[in-house]
Amino acid sequence: MYVPFFKPNISQKAIENVTDALYSGWLTTGKYTSEFEKAFSTYKNGSHCVGVTSCTAALHLAMIALNLPKGSEVIVPTLTFPSTATMALHCGLNVVFAEINPKTLTISPNDVEKKITSRTKAIIAVHIAGNMCDMHALQDLAKKHSLYLIEDCAHAIESEYQGIPSGTIGDIGAFSFYATKNLTTAEGGMLTTKNPEIAHKVKLLRSHGVDKEIWKRRESIAYQQYDVLLAGFKYNMFDIQAAIGIAELENLPQNYQKRKILYQNYVKAFENDPRFELVSQQPNSKHAYHLFILKLNTAQIPYTRDVIMQKMKEKGVETSVHFFPVPLYTYYRTEFGYNQTQFPVSYQTYLQLLSLPLYPDLSMEAQKYVIQTLRDVISC
Ligand SMILES: Cc1ncc(COP(=O)(O)O)c(C=O)c1O
Repeated sequence: MYVPFFKPNISQKAIENVTDALYSGWLTTGKYTSEFEKAFSTYKNGSHCVGVTSCTAALHLAMIALNLPKGSEVIVPTLTFPSTATMALHCGLNVVFAEINPKTLTISPNDVEKKITSRTKAIIAVHIAGNMCDMHALQDLAKKHSLYLIEDCAHAIESEYQGIPSGTIGDIGAFSFYATKNLTTAEGGMLTTKNPEIAHKVKLLRSHGVDKEIWKRRESIAYQQYDVLLAGFKYNMFDIQAAIGIAELENLPQNYQKRKILYQNYVKAFENDPRFELVSQQPNSKHAYHLFILKLNTAQIPYTRDVIMQKMKEKGVETSVHFFPVPLYTYYRTEFGYNQTQFPVSYQTYLQLLSLPLYPDLSMEAQKYVIQTLRDVISC
């Protein structure tokens, strides 16, 4: 049997919407983008929502919109996708990496506290795999030290913390609609904020800093010369993406239920087996079940994680790793002199991590095969 790590399940409605958008005579940011932003806003308790080309773009615009002084510090977890940190560098900020809590894989508030200096201006909370960070502790730190709190919600569209939706707790939320995400538009992202001024600024910044959006200017009979108010970017979501997004947002609850059942099956399969350790869910939170990350109890298994991955691939099961600690990538090592002794928790945890296939169209039969294959390869 062949089980890919991920398989998209685009709905018929999304295909119809895309066809409609393609025939509509308007391909870039327009009616569909505006509708998707409104629907997303309803989903996120009325937050202001700005459609962008990726979560990376949302993170970049978040840090620009907050006007963080060049040379100030942003605290980022080690265990994340590189762009969480790289976008801070592009804003002229210094990235300070905080260790993770090895039980939840999210940023450790204790380590964040140790890393705060007079130059710290923001913390980026990454809700990894869909597991919420300890937002209470992070909010306390942010308040005490007057720091902005940005939520990287790339994995966490459905997540909630004490009943509050992800991306609406901190100052800004950044969502990804990349091909493998719980909601995909192939590529795409959304910035959320409760602050209307930030939303207005991000709307300008996503599209060249231009004051009048093209599709709105077109509705006017009189020629409307646009003005440039900010040094902007080319990060605007366009209607073909949004056409998919609208349909996929409607599909979100049903896909969530399917992933939840699959996730719970994995939990049941591994919870009483001493060769594995389950990642703990943040108390009082809703998990988005974006990734199933298993921790291998390497002392009890005769192979390294990489050998296990290779053996599983030979038997047709694709797996992945989320993530390699960002400061240990070549760029960060050479540019900033980091090494693994500075991040012992992240590095040791990284060696244990194994992500198993999890997506709505993963059949029960395929999931059983994944579980059995893992058991077989570590036993022989
Ligand atoms: C935690 C995290 N943050 C940010 C991103 C960037 O998302 P995008 O590809 O939409 O820029 C990713 C992508 O996988 C991610 O996993």
